[in-house]
Amino acid sequence: MAKMQFHPLQISHIRPQTAGGIALKFDVPEALQADFAFAPGQYLTLRSTINGQDIRRSYSICSAENDNGLEVGIKRVDGGVFSNHAFGLSVGDTLSVMPPQGRFTARIGGTHNYLLLAAGSGITPCLSIAKSVLAGEPDSSITLIYGNSATDSVMFRDDIEALKDRYTERFTLTHVMSREHQDVECLNGRLDGTRIMALHERGLVDTTAFDDIYICGPQPIIESCSAALGDLGIADDKIHFELFTPADGKSTAARQTVPDVVSGASVEIILDGTRRTIKVDGAQQTVLKAAQKAGLDLPFSCAGGMCCTCRCRIVSGEAAMDVNYSLQDWEVEAGFTLACQTRPKTDKLVIDFDAQ
Ligand code: FES
Repeated sequence: MAKMQFHPLQISHIRPQTAGGIALKFDVPEALQADFAFAPGQYLTLRSTINGQDIRRSYSICSAENDNGLEVGIKRVDGGVFSNHAFGLSVGDTLSVMPPQGRFTARIGGTHNYLLLAAGSGITPCLSIAKSVLAGEPDSSITLIYGNSATDSVMFRDDIEALKDRYTERFTLTHVMSREHQDVECLNGRLDGTRIMALHERGLVDTTAFDDIYICGPQPIIESCSAALGDLGIADDKIHFELFTPADGKSTAARQTVPDVVSGASVEIILDGTRRTIKVDGAQQTVLKAAQKAGLDLPFSCAGGMCCTCRCRIVSGEAAMDVNYSLQDWEVEAGFTLACQTRPKTDKLVIDFDAQ
C-alpha cells in the first residue's frame, strides 16, 4: 500500500463541465505510477495553502482504470474554499495530492451487472466505475439512475452520452429530474427510496437483478435508497455507498457529546513506524486536532468523519468517536477509529495508523 503522503502533481488538462463543475486531470510521473494506481470508485485528497491555511479536500476520480492520467471532478460550492480555489487553477499548476483511497470500489474482471444510483456530483465515482466496467468487461452491463434538478445541472453529460452511444446494449441510463418535466411521470422528482420503489414496482428497473448496487450522493438519499433496497430484499453486502456530505451539511459541529472523555490523556501515535506521544484534552479536542497542535502531520482530509483518510486502530486503551459516517461495523468492532473524531476515554491510549 502506498504511504499516505502528499506528492506534487501537475495539472495537465482542465475540462469545464456544465452545472458549475470542472474536471482536473493530473500527470502522474513514471516513478509515482504504482503509488497512484487506483480502483474505480476511489478518491484523491488534494491539498493547498489558501489564505495561509492548509486546506484539504477529497474528490472522486472520474477516469477509467486504463485512462491516461488521473482526473477528478470538482463541483463549485457556494463559499467552498477549495472548490473556488480550484476554479482559479490553470494547466501547468501543481497541487499536493495523496494517493488514491476509498472502499467504494468495483473490481474489474469477470462479468457483472451493476446498478449505479448517483445524485448530483455523486456521479463522479460512478462514472469511473461505469467506464471501467464497460471497457474492461466485455460481457458486463451497467444501469445508471442519475438524479439532478434539470438537464443543465447534469455533470459529465458528454461523457455519459458517449457511453450511451458506444455501449448501446450494455449501458442503460435513466435521468430523474426534480425541476424539469419528463414524459414518464415517475421520473419526475427527487431520487430517493420512494422513487426507487416506484421504478421497481412499475418494472422500469428490477433491483433484484443486479450483482451489486452502488449509491453516491448526500446522506438522506443514501439512507432512503438503502432502506428501500433493503425492503425489496437486497442483502446489505450488495449495497455500497459513498457519502459526500452528512445530512446537516456540517462536520464536527453537529457532533454528539461523547460521555466520560478524559482530559489530559496520554496518546501514543504510531505512524510510518515511528511513535510520538501527545497530550489530548478529550473534552476540548479530538486526537487529530491535538496532533496538529503538537506539529504532527497525520493523514486526514474531510475532518468530518466521512472520508476515512484518518482511519487508524486502537491498540490499547479506550476511545469514542463523535460521529462516524464511513467505518463499517466490523471495522469498529476490530478497533478501528477515525482520528478526526476520536476522543480518549482512558488515561492512556495507543493508536496505530500503520495497522491494516
Ligand atoms: S479525515 Fe475524513 S474521516 Fe477523518
